[in-house]
Amino acid sequence: MHAESPNIGQVDQVVQALKGLADPTRLRLLSLLRHGELTVGEICRVVGQSQPRVSRHLRLLSEAGFLDRFREQQCVYYRTPATGARSGWVRELLASVDSRDPALQRDQVRMAVVVSDRGRTAAGQLGQSSPSEAGDAGLAAVLHEELGPMALGELLDIGTGAGRMLEMLGAQTSHAVGIDLSSPALRLARTRVHGRGLAHCEFHRGDMYALPFESAAFDTVTIDRVLAAAERPVAVLTEAARTLRAAGRLLVVERFDDIEACTGANPLQSLRAWLDGSGLRLTRLRPCDLASGHHLLAVAQHAVASAAGAQ
Ligand SMILES: C[S@@+](CC[C@H](N)C(=O)[O-])C[C@H]1O[C@@H](n2cnc3c(N)ncnc32)[C@H](O)[C@@H]1O
Repeated sequence: MHAESPNIGQVDQVVQALKGLADPTRLRLLSLLRHGELTVGEICRVVGQSQPRVSRHLRLLSEAGFLDRFREQQCVYYRTPATGARSGWVRELLASVDSRDPALQRDQVRMAVVVSDRGRTAAGQLGQSSPSEAGDAGLAAVLHEELGPMALGELLDIGTGAGRMLEMLGAQTSHAVGIDLSSPALRLARTRVHGRGLAHCEFHRGDMYALPFESAAFDTVTIDRVLAAAERPVAVLTEAARTLRAAGRLLVVERFDDIEACTGANPLQSLRAWLDGSGLRLTRLRPCDLASGHHLLAVAQHAVASAAGAQ
């Protein structure tokens, strides 16, 4: 998903890259886009410049590998790279820029307005179906009990919706990606998760039946209230298992009543059967009562990893 970065060790390429940065607006754009993913239109509103001017600066920064660019339906989003050599370089460079600079501070204030407008619109389009904060707080506590304090590494959240999993777990990851088919949901997720300072979390439009990732790319994969409504839950889990590293952990959260309503069978048995069908080994299955209802939480691993853990 990242733009191909030139080798930063080669002198002429480093000079070329530095030339790409040597402009006050481009530095301003980098400083802005390290806080999250913005569309060209949103960036224009924040910096108060015309689209052709802003697009030219964005193109130069992208070509030098300092910005990632991706399309989501009719919108093109930009952000600083969340991983790779250029992400470290951007971090170090921006650390030496005074964040109290009036232009940068003005950008921050305008960005907050633009992002909150986006959140309101997206929430309206979704009919705001987010669960209560109290329910989330209960789930966050259970997740931390089950996963422990250890770092979650690279995390993928499948069917991320408004991004509540990444809001709860993002701080424990080195890099996280939320995938969903719904653009309004992704817009809301960006607003909420990046608004909490978790800019290392990325959001992309993608299909859970054909995930746009290589095999064994993630240490942790989460699927929160997605399987019960899925036409083919075993296919979703099989695809999730493909992206999970050998020692990785898959975490599934489902509402008890939703599984019962869609399968007509005992939800514990249904969840077990789905996981068996995907080739993963269930290592933990736990019912939990949250303010938002009775839930099941399952942790699964590749069979080899769970056997090693049991020794
Ligand atoms: C009930 S919501 C759960 C959202 C989030 N995980 C949470 O718990 O708040 C289910 C999500 O799955 C997404 N979804 C449904 N089918 C999908 C597919 N084929 N690929 C990716 N996401 C999908 C929906 O757009 C929706 O955001």
